[in-house]
Amino acid sequence: MSGVRVRVAAKINLSLRVGARRPDGFHDLSTVFQAISLFDDIQVRASPIGSGRTISVAGERVDGVPRDDRNLAARAAIALAEAVGQPDPDVHIDIDKAIPVAGGMAGGSADAAATLVACRALWDTEIADEELHRVAADLGSDVPFALQGGTAQGTGRGDILVPVLATGEWHWVVALNDGELSTPQVFAECDRLRSCGLSEPAPGDDSALMAALRAGSARDLAPCLVNDLQPAALSLRPSLAAVLAAGTDVGALAGLVSGSGPTCIFLAADREHAIGLAAELAGSGLVRGVRHAFGPVRGAHLIP
Ligand code: C5P
Repeated sequence: MSGVRVRVAAKINLSLRVGARRPDGFHDLSTVFQAISLFDDIQVRASPIGSGRTISVAGERVDGVPRDDRNLAARAAIALAEAVGQPDPDVHIDIDKAIPVAGGMAGGSADAAATLVACRALWDTEIADEELHRVAADLGSDVPFALQGGTAQGTGRGDILVPVLATGEWHWVVALNDGELSTPQVFAECDRLRSCGLSEPAPGDDSALMAALRAGSARDLAPCLVNDLQPAALSLRPSLAAVLAAGTDVGALAGLVSGSGPTCIFLAADREHAIGLAAELAGSGLVRGVRHAFGPVRGAHLIP
């Protein structure tokens, strides 16, 4: 058995509005996700009985990715087995990463979503979409969106999803930055800055952003992009301010930290503009690497 292959996309948050910290430690969110064309490819195959989960990981800067049951992909296999009444699963999960590790693009969540889709196919198991969504949400706030893809509004922890109409194709330049930022630390820093009066939630709502998405207008979308975690990411990693400034200096329509960072994303007018921006940013010497990506793309899906 050669196994099952699944492709899964990175997410960006076009809007990330962070509410109060809840008693369960999570924050209420209102966010608009878009899945963009940076992909991890996962292959899952059955292993000999009793071998448990084994993981191999390829890609840039993957040394810190756990190769055991601490990896969210392994936990996804276990959670799906439990949900469908299968015994403790024996699987090998091969992860080929293009989504930056701990970069604010939900790479770990993406791998978990891909593993759910792969194991469902590998075990030829029937599980209702709502049940799969529940298993995904239990694994992490961003896992349901990685399953669904496209453009969607997320509320709750970010796990309650409604599709959003986005006309046409949106072009992004993704600036990869050195080091990692821990999502819990960035949320904690957001709380700290707010409690000291040094930061506050972005005003307004996402109605103009939704209208720009419907109309397919990158110029209208640019002023609507918002990330309440950005002040916290900049506080923990001040050097990101220079990256954001460099992107807008070379003509990006807008730039912002992706999720909890440290990856930054820049909106381009179209494909050619994005390719030009990517070249200029790469030459700035401020970033570890750049990628051109477009969205929306589909959620985790089987590939031949
Ligand atoms: O859900 P996930 O495991 O991806 O979240 C990682 C961490 O990010 C949480 O432990 C929490 O500290 C923070 N978080 C949050 N509020 C959310 C989502 C994540 O505080 N809505």
